[in-house]
Amino acid sequence: MDLQKVERVYTSYAGVYDAIFGKVFHEGRESAIRNLNVQPDERILEVGVGTGIALPMYPRHCQIVAIDFSEGMLEIAKKRLAEHRMDHVTLHRMDAGAMEFQDDSFDTVVAAYVVTAVPDYRKVVSEMIRVCRPGGRIIMLNHFSNENKVVAAVEKVLSPLTKHLGWRTDLSLNTVLEDTDLHVARKQNVNPLRFWSLVECVNLKNGTEVPHKNGSVHHNGTTVYTHSAPALSAGPTNEEALA
Ligand SMILES: C[S@@+](CC[C@H](N)C(=O)[O-])C[C@H]1O[C@@H](n2cnc3c(N)ncnc32)[C@H](O)[C@@H]1O
Repeated sequence: MDLQKVERVYTSYAGVYDAIFGKVFHEGRESAIRNLNVQPDERILEVGVGTGIALPMYPRHCQIVAIDFSEGMLEIAKKRLAEHRMDHVTLHRMDAGAMEFQDDSFDTVVAAYVVTAVPDYRKVVSEMIRVCRPGGRIIMLNHFSNENKVVAAVEKVLSPLTKHLGWRTDLSLNTVLEDTDLHVARKQNVNPLRFWSLVECVNLKNGTEVPHKNGSVHHNGTTVYTHSAPALSAGPTNEEALA
């Protein structure tokens, strides 16, 4: 799927996207944002923001920049911004695989249901790492191909079909993380059937060290990120700390 097809497919969905994918994916978005523990003035980038359905869930004391390539999706997001008077959010039409931001521009980068919907996940993940500061967080919420070999085989067969709908089903988390500077701090299964994963990574680029499990990452002397310690130490059974 190339960028023009992404634009066509998602713009054609835009009017009905929230009705189809709103409730069913809500739990994942909510968990992702609830666990962020957003600090005052934290700089957050939402990649592939779509209709902006998750934007009202963030606290207003942060600064959010949100990008998407689909004009149709952005139109709905613009209306949502006006409706909720979200002055702390700015929207841009931009290719997530070639972002126009400077290196280290953000403390936190969020990509909800995006890495399997983009033409080239490698470019997008590498761009997310570039624009996120060392020690910052990169949150991916997505369906990744199953570790069960039988289910993974079915997903592989389905993928050429789902590509026409705007996403693939055959991408594994290991493949996405391969050769990156990302350290998985927390992984939680979410949404119906627990088929989707919320993966919280720390950006270890430029030799940044792995943070303590229940500790925090410091930046310029300020604690800007606190791990969800309870989830790591005594989380529900569907949570899996990989750190
Ligand atoms: C499945 S939707 C997810 C929307 C939203 N994040 C949510 O939680 O529902 C995927 C979004 O990624 C956008 N997208 C796909 N490829 C992109 C790219 N290269 N650059 C920017 N946005 C892209 C699509 O336009 C679409 O809005």
